[in-house]
Amino acid sequence: MLIEISGVSHTYAGRAQPVVRDLDVRLSEHRVGVIGANGSGKSTFARMLNGLVVPSEGTVSVDGLDTARQGREIRKRVGFCFTDPDSQIVMPTVAEDVAFGLRRRGLSKAEVAARVDATLRARGLDGHADHPAHLLSGGQKQLLALSSILVTEPDLLVMDEPTTLLDLRNTRRVADVVVGLPQQVVLVTHDLDLLVGFDRVLVFDETRLVHDGPPAAAIKHYRELMA
Ligand SMILES: Nc1ncnc2c1ncn2[C@@H]1O[C@H](COP(=O)(O)OP(=O)(O)OP(=O)(O)O)[C@@H](O)[C@H]1O
Ligand SMILES: [Mg+2]
Repeated sequence: MLIEISGVSHTYAGRAQPVVRDLDVRLSEHRVGVIGANGSGKSTFARMLNGLVVPSEGTVSVDGLDTARQGREIRKRVGFCFTDPDSQIVMPTVAEDVAFGLRRRGLSKAEVAARVDATLRARGLDGHADHPAHLLSGGQKQLLALSSILVTEPDLLVMDEPTTLLDLRNTRRVADVVVGLPQQVVLVTHDLDLLVGFDRVLVFDETRLVHDGPPAAAIKHYRELMA
C-alpha cells in the first residue's frame, strides 16, 4: 500500500508548538522503521497512519484514502499495535479477545472460531484460548494483542514500540512474528536490532524527519545525533 504524507504538521489541541513539522514522504516499502529521540514525534507520526491522529495541517492518505475523511475504511486495512498490550486487550479470555476483532464482519460462528483457532495456533497461544487474558505473561499478552490485530487481516501493520516493555526473549518472539508477516509493516522502535533487513528507516529529531535511508546509515545518523 502506498502511504502519502503531504505538507503535514501537527499541533495537539491546547499546545502552542507543532510536534511534527513539514513532513512530506511517500512510503511503499515492505518494512519501514522509525527511530528517534524521546518526544521527537514518532508516535504522533505512527498514529497519523491509521487516522488515530488527524494532522492539523496537510494530508495523510493510505491506498488513496484520506485519513481525515475515511478513517473507518483505513482502520479496516491498517492495524495498530501499541507498546502496552493492556491498552489493546479488551475481552476477558484470549479467544474472546481475538474474536472481538471479527465482530460486525458478517462471519458465522463457525468461521469466527476457525479464524480465531488458526490465529492463536500461528502465535503459539492455542493452549491458552480459554485462559483469562490478564493472567498471561507480558510477552504472551503482546502476542495476543498482535493476534487480535492480525485476525482481521490488515494490509499494513503499524507498531509503536511493541517490544519496549518486554525482556530479551519475548522481544525476540515478537521480532520473529514481525519478520514472518506477509503484511507491510511500519515499526517504531528503540530496539535497533529489530531493524536488520528493513528496507527503509526514518529518523525523527525534534519534530522533523531528519534522515531517510537504509538501516545502517539511519542508525549511524541516529547514534551521531544522540552522542
Ligand atoms: N495527546 C497529546 N496531547 C498533547 N501533547 C502530546 C500528545 N501526545 C504527545 N504529545 C507531545 O508531543 C510530543 C511528541 O510526542 P510523541 O509521543 O509523538 O514522541 P515520541 O517520539 O513517540 O517519543 P517516545 O520515544 O518517548 O515515545 C511530545 O512533546 C509529547 O509530549
Ligand atoms: Mg512514542
